[in-house]
Amino acid sequence: MEVTLEKHRVLYSRSKIQARVKELAEEISADYEGRTPYLVVVLKGAVVFASDLMRSLTVPCELDFFGISSYEEGARSTGIVRITKDLDANIESKHVLVVEDIVDSGQTLNYLLNTLKQRRPASLKVASFLDRPSRREVDVKIDYTGFDIPDAFVLGYGMDYRERYRNVPYIFVLDHLPNGDDLLLRRSTGEV
Ligand code: IMP
Ligand code: MG
Repeated sequence: MEVTLEKHRVLYSRSKIQARVKELAEEISADYEGRTPYLVVVLKGAVVFASDLMRSLTVPCELDFFGISSYEEGARSTGIVRITKDLDANIESKHVLVVEDIVDSGQTLNYLLNTLKQRRPASLKVASFLDRPSRREVDVKIDYTGFDIPDAFVLGYGMDYRERYRNVPYIFVLDHLPNGDDLLLRRSTGEV
C-alpha cells in the first residue's frame, strides 16, 4: 500500500533546510580553513544532506562512503553493526568529518566512530543533519547539528521508510504508516 502524501505533516520545508545547511557549511568551512576535510558519508540516508553540504563548502574536500547496517531486535537498534561498504582509502592523518542523516540511540554513530578512530585519522568530527537527543542510549558527540527533532519518525531528505521517500526534498512526519505498521511510530514515541 502506498502512503498518501496528503496525510503527512511537513516538519522542515525545502527552504528552511537549504538555509540551515548553508549555515552549517559556513561554520564547517571556517573551522576547516587551511585543511581538507575528508567527508565520510554514511549510506544511504546521509547522501542528500552531504550533496547539499559539500556544494556550500568553501574549503576543498574529499568524499568517501561508509555503509553499515544494524541488526534490529524488534524495533530496537541493537548496536550490532555489519559493514556493507568500507571506505575506499586509508584515512590515517586525514581530517575526517562523518556526515550522518540522523542520530537516534547513537548506536550506529558510536560503532562508526570507534571503527574510524582505530584507523588513526588526524581529527574526527561529526555533522548530523538531525538529532533526536531524547532517545539517546550511548553518549556520542555531534559537532555540527542541523536540527534537534522531537520524538517522531521522520522521512524525506534522504531518510526512508522501507527504502521509500528518500527523494522527497523536505522532512515530513507521518501520523500513520502503511500496512498498519505503526511499530516505528510507537518506537519513536517510546512505547516499544
Ligand atoms: P541509531 O543507531 O539508533 O542512532 O539510529 C540511527 C539510524 O537509524 C539513522 O542513521 C537512520 O538510518 C535510522 N533512523 C533513525 N531515526 C530515523 C527516522 O526518524 N527516520 C528514518 N530513519 C531513521
Ligand atoms: Mg543512517
